[in-house]
Amino acid sequence: MLSNAERLLSRKQITSIVDSTRRTLALWSGSVSAGKTIASLIAFLLAVRVAPRTGLIVVVGRTLQTVYQNVFMPLQSPGLFGSLVAAQVVYTPGATKATILGREVMVIGAHNAEAVGRIQGATIALAYVDEATLLPEVFWNMLVTRLRVKGARLLATMNPASRNHWMRKSWILKADTVDLIHFHFTMLDNPTLEQSYIDRMKRSYSGVFYDRFIKGEWTNAEGAVYPMWDPDRHVIPWASMPAMQEIMGIGMDYGTTNATTALMLGVTAEEKPRLVMMDEWGYSPAEHDGRRLTDAELSRRFRTWLGQQHHPEPDGLRPRFLMLDPAAASMRVQLHNDLRGTGLSPWSADNDVLKGIATIANLLDGDEPRMVVTDRCTGWQSEVTEYRWDEKATTEGEDEVVKEDDHYLDGGRYITHSTVGYWKPMLELAA
Ligand SMILES: Nc1ncnc2c1ncn2[C@@H]1O[C@H](COP(=O)(O)OP(=O)(O)OP(=O)(O)O)[C@@H](O)[C@H]1O
Ligand SMILES: [Mg+2]
Repeated sequence: MLSNAERLLSRKQITSIVDSTRRTLALWSGSVSAGKTIASLIAFLLAVRVAPRTGLIVVVGRTLQTVYQNVFMPLQSPGLFGSLVAAQVVYTPGATKATILGREVMVIGAHNAEAVGRIQGATIALAYVDEATLLPEVFWNMLVTRLRVKGARLLATMNPASRNHWMRKSWILKADTVDLIHFHFTMLDNPTLEQSYIDRMKRSYSGVFYDRFIKGEWTNAEGAVYPMWDPDRHVIPWASMPAMQEIMGIGMDYGTTNATTALMLGVTAEEKPRLVMMDEWGYSPAEHDGRRLTDAELSRRFRTWLGQQHHPEPDGLRPRFLMLDPAAASMRVQLHNDLRGTGLSPWSADNDVLKGIATIANLLDGDEPRMVVTDRCTGWQSEVTEYRWDEKATTEGEDEVVKEDDHYLDGGRYITHSTVGYWKPMLELAA
């Protein structure tokens, strides 16, 4: 059945596939690209063949989209599982049903607690869970109670989260009591990775993200979000900013009672290009006796700023993107109308906070930071030193930042993280 993978499995992968059958629950956790998904999917295919007929088979992930990418795409890849298996995995992206080795499978996106309704009352014979630490705890708990036929099993993969995460505290640490076996994987357990790839991944993460995604450890996000911040290394005078090869664009955070901010990001034309947070604009009611502005007035002031000079030696480059706070529906309409004919229109920024923070932290980290900020970005600088992980959330196992003064940081994160696909090749080419 597993013609191609068979020859390539690492010892750790093989052991986990065999040992996973010893317990009702089997969990694979650890670093990115560690081979967890491949090993657990082989275990899953073997389990599908013997799964009790009296219960459902379910495949669960955060969304139908991530289930498709992380589970069905590999299963349907002849290079990984052979063309025989690929032909026996039938799934249309977005659908809530699939067929695997002739058995009907229910597919569930469970990013919020409402998904509980889909399995309440059901009897489940076999479950496969992708990115389990990102699911609501109530959903997981319900799923486990549904495993009520003899021989029912659950297989799950995940990247580690905080030490207090419910998955670690209530399941992994109580493995024997809850009839669970846990496998910890790192990139060394993937038999196919080149050293250069491992090195590149190592360079892509720092701090808490390095510990989790590279070492595969369960660690808390604590204290300062950007502990590497150092004005001596990260701030440059606006007047002596290097020439740019590209102005990536502007990130905008929007608030009615809170500040509305805009941060402009460029890529330098240096031999070893860097990102520069070139300039910023903002309006905060708190600094104007609580006076709120209409969207029309905010837009007018923003456009006045946009028309000004943002580089000491004007070079004719224009910003490519305007990445707007995805929650700012009214402002999006306003800007869409007001910017007509300028070549710039508002896009919804990628607001994955953790990934965005990981992107910025990595750019700031190291002996030669790949991002600097000009001294015009005073709002950004005033926030970056204060930005902290939320201790209370950490105690509860969640990763959250204290949401106080983060409006300039959010604007900067929107443009930086949403355009990562554009600037990354520019930075890496010269690296
Ligand atoms: N035994 C194997 N044979 C062939 N390819 C493999 C094998 N193990 C891993 N790979 C390759 O390595 C890639 C990463 O493995 P996998 O998706 O299992 O990692 P993961 O631990 O689930 O990572 P992530 O945490 O990023 O989801 C796979 O897409 C596959 O191409
Ligand atoms: Mg995976």
